Amino acid sequence: MSDTFRAAQARSDAITAKMAEDPASLRMLTGDRPTGNLHLGHYFGSIRNRVALQSSGAEIWQLIADYQVITDREVAGDIAGSVRSLLVDNIAAGLDPERATIFTHSSVPALNQLMLPFLSLVSVAELQRNPTVKDEAKTAGITSIGGLLLTYPVHQAADILFCKANVVPVGRDQLPHIEQTRVVARRFNERYGAVFPEPDALLSEAPLILGTDGTKMSKSKGNVIELRMTADETAKKIKGAKTDSERVITWDPDGRPEVANLLLLISLCEGTSPEQVAEEIGDGGGGLLKKRLTEAVNTELEPLRARRTELLGDPGALDDVLRRGNERANGVADATLDEVRSAMGMTYL
Ligand code: TRP
Repeated sequence: MSDTFRAAQARSDAITAKMAEDPASLRMLTGDRPTGNLHLGHYFGSIRNRVALQSSGAEIWQLIADYQVITDREVAGDIAGSVRSLLVDNIAAGLDPERATIFTHSSVPALNQLMLPFLSLVSVAELQRNPTVKDEAKTAGITSIGGLLLTYPVHQAADILFCKANVVPVGRDQLPHIEQTRVVARRFNERYGAVFPEPDALLSEAPLILGTDGTKMSKSKGNVIELRMTADETAKKIKGAKTDSERVITWDPDGRPEVANLLLLISLCEGTSPEQVAEEIGDGGGGLLKKRLTEAVNTELEPLRARRTELLGDPGALDDVLRRGNERANGVADATLDEVRSAMGMTYL
């Protein structure tokens, strides 16, 4: 485990403590890219933490990162459909549109304009080292990284800093981006005076959920359990999940990663430990493991499914949520850009 990770984990733990002691001091921003539907990886990696932050009383900013879609592909696909799906899933999962600002970053020009001063604060070598960017290029099967993908971590810094968020609930894969954001904030403040906070990641307990085949979750591999699946679709997906040939279920994350992943999912849904779940299932084998997982996931997602159905019944109200969110985001982004310009001495009239 690297020192950077350990330090990030310690800061994440401090945020958890603050949620109880001083939630009003927390402003959360996080984002999803609208390239498909949200799945269990998002749910356990970030969404549960968003909702927990909201319940603690923190201020909530939820970004639908539509510009990110064109970082690693030429064709954006049905971007409006994906934006809608993220909007619905986030609200269904518990974000309260009365308290949370949900917005799309292409609708907030001043946010994007922060890219200019921010880009001046980073080096090309630094950008080329970012492991998450490299991974994303690899997953997308691109051999030559485009300018927007290379600089995307800086765009993400703008996402986070435009509203001066100080906590970002993300999975572990996003840590390099949060580190980059901290560096941008620090360098800006050093050069022009204190404007931005250095945000901390709020890491989930289970940042690394695998797909049903035991490899990284990815829509293209068909190994994903989406939040919008029905109970039957979910059951079918779990039935097809990969296990191994050993009959007795044990908790052995290194030796039996596929089984461990399913145990972890059960434990996350039920709030128990994976060791205990393994012991309880024991020689019930893969069949019982999958049965228990299906019940656990379907119980966990049942309220989401009910809310989703309700939300889809009132499309006008959904439009309103996004309209209000974009308005609010624009107000704050304009104010921050003014502050940035004046810190930089770029106010003339
Ligand atoms: N890059 C994130 C992802 O791929 C999504 C994202 C965009 C984000 N902007 C953000 C996450 C700001 C946290 C904060 O999942």
